[in-house]
Amino acid sequence: MTQSPSAASDSIIQWEAGGQMHSLRWHSEAGNAAPKRVMAVDDQIPADVAYKLACEGTGLLWQGDYQNARQLLQAMGRRIDQARERNDVKKAKHRAKDEKRAATAAAAGAAAAATPAETGPALAFHKHRHLQAQRARILGMLMLPLEAGFQMTMRRAPDVAAACSEAYGEQMGAQPFAISMRELLGLVGAHEWRKKGVEIAALNERIHPYYGVYSPVRGEYIDLVAQAPLPSTELAFDIGVGTGVLSALLLQRGVKRVVAVDQDPRALACARDNLQRMKLLNKVELLEGDLFPPGKAPLIVCNPPWLPVRPSSPIEHAIYDPDSRMLLGFLNGLAEHLTPQGEGWLVMSDFAEHLGLRPRGMLQEAIAQAGLQVAGRHDIKPRHGKAADPDDPLHAARSAETTTLWRLKISK
Ligand SMILES: C[S@@+](CC[C@H](N)C(=O)[O-])C[C@H]1O[C@@H](n2cnc3c(N)ncnc32)[C@H](O)[C@@H]1O
Repeated sequence: MTQSPSAASDSIIQWEAGGQMHSLRWHSEAGNAAPKRVMAVDDQIPADVAYKLACEGTGLLWQGDYQNARQLLQAMGRRIDQARERNDVKKAKHRAKDEKRAATAAAAGAAAAATPAETGPALAFHKHRHLQAQRARILGMLMLPLEAGFQMTMRRAPDVAAACSEAYGEQMGAQPFAISMRELLGLVGAHEWRKKGVEIAALNERIHPYYGVYSPVRGEYIDLVAQAPLPSTELAFDIGVGTGVLSALLLQRGVKRVVAVDQDPRALACARDNLQRMKLLNKVELLEGDLFPPGKAPLIVCNPPWLPVRPSSPIEHAIYDPDSRMLLGFLNGLAEHLTPQGEGWLVMSDFAEHLGLRPRGMLQEAIAQAGLQVAGRHDIKPRHGKAADPDDPLHAARSAETTTLWRLKISK
């Protein structure tokens, strides 16, 4: 079954102020439940108190100056970092003690107490995600009230109406509601990216990503699709179209027609917008659906999410592929949708393998089991800043990562 990319959460929050109970609709695009306890707070609240309340799960409905709320959010973020640093120091001390004990035991002939699973890359990845989720939960407790029409009445508040209606749809603004300030800042950021766009060198164009749609900021995979030899220019299927970047590239390279599919209506709206800007929309059919469109094509391109991990919020469906559902669905359906001499182009990084999240060799095995063979592979190394940052918690896996375009054919 297709998992719905939009599973936002709506409910009611209640709080007491001036001896009266108040209530307001609560919305979370990330699908977070509303906090059970809510307090109205303003500029007077000390950051330590706000941080403590947020850690305990109390929602803080902001009634003060907007810019002060931003500062409070930053101050709460610093407290999360400080608490983590203290925790890391404590853990390092314990580790040093354990190592000393193990060394003494080893010297005395006992078995070494090494536990590689506790230090493996998969553990580092899960820990990293856990810490990110914890941070999101704590910071998500600072909430802002929006009036109808996505208006904010607090002092020094920016106009967020356009950003909100892009992310939530006009309808949502018919009534007042509260959201987390963190979510609001995220969609304001997405609105800026959408306006500005991402420069795609291989296209010589800018792609404008929508909120919640996979943004093609890692250009190297696009270069692979720009350079691989085309098996045909008659027709291509683009499975999981996202912003439309790969469809646009294939059309620019001379493919005459593209049928593009995505399960996320936001992605389809975004692809339509981008292809229209580039005057390519008349050559593309955009369909909402699960994996393949009907029929066969001589070229079928798919860039599925690269990590086989459960998304922790609906907007993560474009970056995580639970149980490799899209990857395996693509491989297993490919032979049925390719014309006899056709090629399936699978764009996939081996980051999951370096993290220990996908067994080495599983991809090649799945290719063979799907009745496919590899006609060629084109590799590229990541160019983004994190790949070269030794302080990144996932540095070992990032620095070893290779992105590959697998050219697949039906086995003879
Ligand atoms: C990693 S993004 C790639 C987007 C774009 N092709 C690119 O290369 O930038 C994967 C896309 O696949 C879509 N997707 C995920 N599962 C899908 C499915 N079963 N059927 C169709 N699209 C799917 C997601 O919504 C997302 O837009």
